[in-house]
Amino acid sequence: MLVLGIESSCDECSAAVVEDGKKILSNVIATQIEIHKKYDGVVPEIASRTHTEWVKGVVESAIKESGCTLDDIDGISVTNRPGLIGSLMVGLSYAKGLSASSGIPFVGIDHILAHLYASQLENDIEYPFLGLIVSGGHTVIGKVQDFDNVEVLGTTIDDACGEAYDKVAKHYGLGYPGGVLIDELAQKGDPAAFNFPDASLHKGAHRYDVSYSGLKTAVINQLNQFHNEGYEINNENIAASFQKAAIGMLAKRLFKAASDTGINKVVVGGGVAANSYLRSLLKDKNNLEVYFPSMLLCTDNAAMVAGLGYHYLNREEYSDLTLNAGSRVMQFKNKYP
Ligand SMILES: Nc1ncnc2c1ncn2[C@@H]1O[C@H](COP(=O)(O)OP(=O)(O)OP(=O)(O)O)[C@@H](O)[C@H]1O
Ligand SMILES: [Mg+2]
Repeated sequence: MLVLGIESSCDECSAAVVEDGKKILSNVIATQIEIHKKYDGVVPEIASRTHTEWVKGVVESAIKESGCTLDDIDGISVTNRPGLIGSLMVGLSYAKGLSASSGIPFVGIDHILAHLYASQLENDIEYPFLGLIVSGGHTVIGKVQDFDNVEVLGTTIDDACGEAYDKVAKHYGLGYPGGVLIDELAQKGDPAAFNFPDASLHKGAHRYDVSYSGLKTAVINQLNQFHNEGYEINNENIAASFQKAAIGMLAKRLFKAASDTGINKVVVGGGVAANSYLRSLLKDKNNLEVYFPSMLLCTDNAAMVAGLGYHYLNREEYSDLTLNAGSRVMQFKNKYP
């Protein structure tokens, strides 16, 4: 079955053709990073307008690059949640229009489940496993029973991990997007230069939960110290110390979840899965079987959307034209905060 995937939840406009949920025939990703760079973050109105201009060309390129024609496509899979509502609406409306005019069925899928699916495009990973989803808007440790069944064990109680990277980078004037830049700087810095704390969680928080708000504030407050005499700002050391705390916090919870559940298989997804320190920490853990997507499949892309959508389309689970876009996660089994 050939599935056309369409992704427009944030600032990447992407389309892909994937065969049987596995074989990537094309994966066109048009990023808006250069457009949003000067604002140090994504401007939603500009993002949706740009998607409107790009989506048709991106979809046509993906079909052309795959070597297929629209007539060969058996189903359309589109991200309809979660994300920026205006951006989501563009991809979803395009998918609906294409489906209505061609008669090809379509399905709306969850972007976070798609991030988790990315590794399945490159490996055959049997369920269940522990999923670690770390992206710009989400941080989740979950027990993954199937492609559409995630039991949330822990999540962030405030900022997402990628969001903390982006905010720290913004305050230090490092540029956008912050994750890659901090990761690069950290490799030249001393992680012991500053002692940033692990999150102390309030009573009632789950034992696998994380929190980035306090860490982010501590790192940003450190900036004020540099205005005092005798201090010299050292971005490499700040980056390395922040990264040690931000990723260390995640790894600690994940290792605890693995030991408590007895599940030693871990699949990582989302933009922060590209992080070099996270990759090395998890790969060094001998008792764990760890899967990371390749770099291109960590951040937003339509191949993961087409891959996941195949499984719904295969069981003839179709959406209809009443489907709406949603800014929140809707599909996890346990209540998502
Ligand atoms: N090497 C890296 N180290 C740390 N963070 C990274 C790295 N590369 C990318 N990121 C972060 O990943 C995030 C982007 O990932 P992604 O595209 O999955 O997020 P999003 O789509 O904006 O959010 P979501 O998927 O939650 O809706 C950004 O916050 C970025 O800073
Ligand atoms: Mg994403």
